[in-house]
Amino acid sequence: MNTKDQLLSVISETCDTSIDKVTVVGAGDVGTACIFTLLSQGVSSNVTIIDVNENKMMGELLDFQHGSLFFNGKVTGCKGNDYSATAGSKVCVITAGARQKTGESRLDLVQKNTEILKGIVPNLVKYSPDTIIIVVSNPCDILAYVTWKLSGLPKNRIIGSGTNLDTSRFRFYIAEKMKVAPESAHAWIIGEHGDTSVAVWSGVSVAGVRLRDLNPAMGTDNDPENWKEIHNKVIRSAYEVIELKGSTSWAIGLSVANITRSILKNSNKIHAISTNIKGMCGIEQEVFLSLPCVLGRNGIIAIIDPHLVEAERCSLKFSAAKMMEVANGIKF
Ligand code: NAI
Ligand code: 2OP
Repeated sequence: MNTKDQLLSVISETCDTSIDKVTVVGAGDVGTACIFTLLSQGVSSNVTIIDVNENKMMGELLDFQHGSLFFNGKVTGCKGNDYSATAGSKVCVITAGARQKTGESRLDLVQKNTEILKGIVPNLVKYSPDTIIIVVSNPCDILAYVTWKLSGLPKNRIIGSGTNLDTSRFRFYIAEKMKVAPESAHAWIIGEHGDTSVAVWSGVSVAGVRLRDLNPAMGTDNDPENWKEIHNKVIRSAYEVIELKGSTSWAIGLSVANITRSILKNSNKIHAISTNIKGMCGIEQEVFLSLPCVLGRNGIIAIIDPHLVEAERCSLKFSAAKMMEVANGIKF
């Protein structure tokens, strides 16, 4: 008998299914930030990494495994295009693909990343037919639409990471100006994750007090306090960080873990995430954009009508028209 068999008197088989298995596709800056946060915050105890760059995947895998004493769970990897180890994933996070270079917009990446998704999405669905897919690769709204089409999954199970991140940036800057914590500054960014995002100034509140009741010009061009600049800062955020360090990673990693937790814990928490918003806020096209959504174990449980004022409604329609224009130009 070997040492293990002398030590352990086995009385049942090891359970090899997992209620919180997450696959992360793409082991670049964003993928690794997602994995680190998922594991270190205990959101998932079972993460699988896949990347076409096998050395990169293996290097990241070993680096995470060497730290496994310090988190509860395990990390496994898939080589190349072999998706078999992703089987049974409850959530799949797609971070694979090209990222913006300085000066490029997210929309510039659309065709290249659509081609990449064609090799990824069918494989994920083949091995995890019940999965929920979170699309992070940019432009994440349009790529969520592409993923929906490629996957054949119901719309509640395809989520673009959307403006959950922009909302966090918005709340950070409002909180900084108000000298309160971001958690106590209630505010939403909806629409495109990107240049045409919409700040819902009509709903910004602190401790139940609507700030527009205190400053009716908030968010407009006539505002003596120039709150609008905060939304401009949110739009510029990614460009600024990319110019400074080449990519954004930690904030999106935290944002993805936050979305994943709400799904796996069946929390009914509300997040600004990208979904098919046809029929909401006067939008009549099949277009993926962010609105506040209730998240649970089945993915998106409900979409919230944010009761926008006219200017916000127009901005959302502009965002939708821009998305349609780009989506119509994609070669499938
Ligand atoms: P990166 O270049 O560091 O990593 C991308 C990884 O994808 C690479 O390791 C590459 O080998 C891998 N990859 C490429 N094709 C693949 C395939 N077919 N299958 C598996 N892996 C593949 O890029 P980074 O910085 O991690 O960004 C990834 C994406 O996330 C970009 O599109 C970027 O714009 C987007 N992003 C989205 C954010 C959001 O809020 N939605 C925030 C930040 C980045
Ligand atoms: C971000 O907003 C680049 O979409 C990426 O950080």
